[in-house]
Amino acid sequence: MSDRGDDVSEESNGTAQASAARRAVALIVNGREHVVQVEPRTLLVDAIRDHVGLTGTHIGCDSTSCGACTVLLDDRPVKSCTLFAVQAEGSRLRTVESVGSDDGTLHPLQQAFEDEFAFQCGYCTAGMLMSSLAMYERDDPPDRGEIRRCLVGNLCRCTGYESIVDAVELAVTRRGAADQEAEAR
Ligand code: FES
Ligand code: FES
Repeated sequence: MSDRGDDVSEESNGTAQASAARRAVALIVNGREHVVQVEPRTLLVDAIRDHVGLTGTHIGCDSTSCGACTVLLDDRPVKSCTLFAVQAEGSRLRTVESVGSDDGTLHPLQQAFEDEFAFQCGYCTAGMLMSSLAMYERDDPPDRGEIRRCLVGNLCRCTGYESIVDAVELAVTRRGAADQEAEAR
């Protein structure tokens, strides 16, 4: 299913036939347009990693189960191994590379993950952050039950999940406090 590694093998084989099957797809990733040459079967996660070059989005199961590949598609979390790249054309994609500032300042969610020790090996973290980000950006703050439900498609083999839920809850609570403080001024 995946075209992983095709760039290399195709170049070395010089197979014009494989090239012909490719088409240009314009992906808008983190506010920048990238025109990539992909096959109709190319998964979005492979386009992001291998063609756009953003490898913060991870591949875990490759079969819709683990959530490691979660990105935002028009602000909604999607598992990028379940979509073809062509299906994302014209949509706004956000990957974990867009979280946080260029100067190294952590996003409040990242800070909360650090404060709550919400990762160990970190393999699931990009997906956890992207699923949480959609929730964090909502106007109405989620409660703990909603946070759990929102993360149900993201698997972690290390943390036992409690610290991840704690981290998202902490970030949401901090945001609420900051909003209240701003309103009081
Ligand atoms: Fe996409 Fe696991 S790699 S859900
Ligand atoms: Fe290792 Fe989640 S921190 S898989």
